[in-house]
Amino acid sequence: RPRVHETVADLREGIAAARAAGHRIALVPTMGALHEGHLSLVRAAREQAEHIIVSIFVNPAQFAPTEDFDAYPRDNEADIRMLEELSVEGVFLPSVAEMYPQGFATGMTVGGPSAGLESLTRPHFFNGMAIVVAKLLLAALPDIAMFGEKDYQQLAVVRRFVADLGIPTTIVGAPTVREADGLAMSSRNRYLDADARRTAALVPQVLRQAIARIEAGEPVATVLADGTAQLTQGGFAVDYLELCDAATLAPVGPESTSARLLVAAKLGKTRLIDNMAVTRP
Ligand code: PAJ
Repeated sequence: RPRVHETVADLREGIAAARAAGHRIALVPTMGALHEGHLSLVRAAREQAEHIIVSIFVNPAQFAPTEDFDAYPRDNEADIRMLEELSVEGVFLPSVAEMYPQGFATGMTVGGPSAGLESLTRPHFFNGMAIVVAKLLLAALPDIAMFGEKDYQQLAVVRRFVADLGIPTTIVGAPTVREADGLAMSSRNRYLDADARRTAALVPQVLRQAIARIEAGEPVATVLADGTAQLTQGGFAVDYLELCDAATLAPVGPESTSARLLVAAKLGKTRLIDNMAVTRP
């Protein structure tokens, strides 16, 4: 069974012992309700580290008051059992008071790739995500930290602020794990009823079709308008469907060497995000 650390002090003790034994440390930050997407990050971490810490913390700072902080699925026991099967060494399971004690008064303002996309509908999100990821990285000071491409803009923001702050951890991105019908795995997929779950597969279908058309040289604006219309007809409220520079997430320009198609759309109350790589014609 992994060792469960509830405090930063206890986490640091465990990591110091592992370091003294010559082990490389990997951190996999999560909000729990683990699925194969999270577990793929753990498996990828295992290739580069002997001591893996998975953090499970539903971070209030990245939820707006109107969002699903209270409803967010939590199942620590099931999560720890899954991590035990992967022989994870440690689970960091702090309380809100451990991460944000009385008097906590510091925030982060991230820029660069945080502009646009998710920030248009969730303006609080990246600053709140960044403060907790910075605290987790400083608590563990791991050699590597794993992030999924599922949250592509998040990965870009983390790479940016880790470089800007000189945090001595290598950020590693891992590919999106999907269900059989293409839907990207997400803890929030649990919110979908059977009907909505079937409809949700339209998101990756629209991405794939749009990418095929863009790669065939069709005008991007037409393809994006068609994709948005398809999602809307399918019952989604589309927040964005955009083609961005894969590194900066600015709108693709002639100088972009690689591109990413990103989407966010709501199906009822459930908000789905996804993205895929685009090879430019
Ligand atoms: P959470 O949504 O739990 O995701 C934790 C990590 O798992 C993130 O790096 C995310 O990109 C990755 N992930 C989720 N679904 C995935 C999938 N289908 N395939 C591959 N990777 C996937 O993202 C967060 O938590 C939080 O914002 C966090 C970084 C922990 C900060 O609170």
